[in-house]
Formats: sequence, structure tokens, C-alpha cells
Amino acid sequence: MMRVLVINGPNLAMLGKRPKEFYGDMSLDMINELMLEEAGASLSLDFFQSNSEGKIVDELNRAYGRYDAVIINPAAYTHTSVAIRDALEIFTGIKLEVHLSDINNRDEFRKINYIKDVCDKSFIGKGYHSYIDAIKYLKEHK
Ligand code: DQA
Repeated sequence: MMRVLVINGPNLAMLGKRPKEFYGDMSLDMINELMLEEAGASLSLDFFQSNSEGKIVDELNRAYGRYDAVIINPAAYTHTSVAIRDALEIFTGIKLEVHLSDINNRDEFRKINYIKDVCDKSFIGKGYHSYIDAIKYLKEHK
């Protein structure tokens, strides 16, 4: 079975309490439940959330050789973190970037993206469906 690690970055544990026009009204737990439903029996999912850049880097290093794919929403670190970019570059499995909001049509600083070109594919701007589409992609490419 394909082993998948889902990583969520800073402030994503507060989903449901963040501006709804960008992030919708679902909690992260609800989104994780829907991902599990979509994954069914064909993927095994583990979930990790941290507000700390270093902990996300640690988790990506730990994932090496242990997971076949990583789905990551690095949140604000998308726009700042060379360390998370480098950690993703090291990971040899499938790497999928996810964002709830359309980061290319918001603030100028959100157009800066350090991780896009070390990921295989990006799912952006479809709310929680961005996560579901990443799961669907893995089901098709396993
Ligand atoms: C986000 C977009 C980021 O710009 C922002 O800092 C987030 C969430 C998204 O999923 O839309 O926290 O990654």
C-alpha cells in the first residue's frame, strides 16, 4: 500500500477560525477525515501539523525512505523557507503542494513560492478540494 505523509504548516490547526473567504469554514480535523474517506483502502495516510519550521524539516527528513509520497501545505513558510524547500528536494518520493487559497491572486508576497519547483504538482485555490484533488492524483499515480 502506498504510504502518504500529510504535512500542514503554521496556523492551519486554526482552520475554521481563519478568514473564511480564503480558507473556508472547515477544521483541519474535518479536512483530514475527508482525505481519509477519499483515500479509502488504497492509500495509508499519516498526518503531521506544526507551527515550527524546524519541526517540519525534521519530519521531512524522517520521511525519507519511510513514505512513498508527501502532501504538504507549508502555509506561510511557502513564501519564506529555503530550509523546507531543501528538505523537500532530498525526499525522493512524490511531492504534492497544496493550498486552500489562490496564492497567485492575493498579496504580492504570496506569489513568492520557494517550494513549487521542487514539488511534482501543485493543487491551489480550491479550498479543501485542493487536498482531495491531491489524494485523487495519488490514487491515479500509485
Ligand atoms: C495557505 C496560503 C498561505 O499564503 C498562508 O500563509 C496560509 C495558508 C493556503 O492554504 O491557502 O497560512 O498556504
